[in-house]
Amino acid sequence: MNFTLLVLLGSCLMWPVMEAQMVYKVKKIECSENPVRIKNVSCRLKAINWNVAVVNMDCDLVVPIIRPVTRLQVFKKDYSNQFQPFLIDVTFGICEVVKKRTYYPYALMLWKLLKRYSNVNHSCPFSGHLTARDGILGSEILPPFPEDYFQFRFTFFDSNSTNNAYLGTAKFFIQVMESIKNKTKTAS
Ligand SMILES: *[C@@H]1O[C@H](CO)[C@@H](O)[C@H](O)[C@H]1NC(C)=O
Ligand SMILES: *[C@@H]1O[C@H](CO)[C@@H](O)[C@H](O)[C@H]1NC(C)=O
Ligand SMILES: *[C@@H]1O[C@H](CO)[C@@H](O)[C@H](O)[C@H]1NC(C)=O
Ligand SMILES: *[C@@H]1O[C@H](CO)[C@@H](O)[C@H](O)[C@H]1NC(C)=O
Repeated sequence: MNFTLLVLLGSCLMWPVMEAQMVYKVKKIECSENPVRIKNVSCRLKAINWNVAVVNMDCDLVVPIIRPVTRLQVFKKDYSNQFQPFLIDVTFGICEVVKKRTYYPYALMLWKLLKRYSNVNHSCPFSGHLTARDGILGSEILPPFPEDYFQFRFTFFDSNSTNNAYLGTAKFFIQVMESIKNKTKTAS
């Protein structure tokens, strides 16, 4: 077997192992809302261990959201601790996500998270109490990101042909890192 083939084969074997070790740890969440549309907002983070923190979110809608639209922007922290735009800035309708009429990778990612962890798992409109429990950003859901600090910012609107009403913003501060191993466990 020649050297190139060995290297190729080696990297095929190594790749899944290396990916499996990366974790996307949510370090902080910040939510803000338009009080005319959204009340009783709660955004909380609970640390489970060194690698995992779970997200719990709640809010009440004053009036139903007819056509929710979200803009997802990703920012990466630079050397001076400022968040700079990082490649992703997409806007898509959440009804289309729920109806699986859109196949943007990030729309599908959001749908998987909503279906798994929230009561926003049905067709539009959305009304009443919205809730998400024990949400985890599994590394299988996201494309591979480099090891660094990121901000995933979702800005929500209720949008129709004549009006684009602001609903609120959720910012997730995420550290992409190699998972911290339990030394005790590996030794036994
Ligand atoms: C917000 O919470 C209060 C207290 O639980 C409740 O009375 C009120 O109806 C809630 N607001 C909305 C818009 O549901
Ligand atoms: C949506 O979420 C609710 C609350 O978690 C659950 O009871 C219901 O079965 C879910 N529906 C679908 C279609 O997944
Ligand atoms: C768009 O939304 C605004 C505010 O909710 C509403 O007054 C208007 O009737 C809507 N227009 C259409 C075409 O649905
Ligand atoms: C590592 O293992 C010990 C003993 O089983 C346990 O108490 C601890 O919580 C574990 N730490 C992590 C990060 O899983």
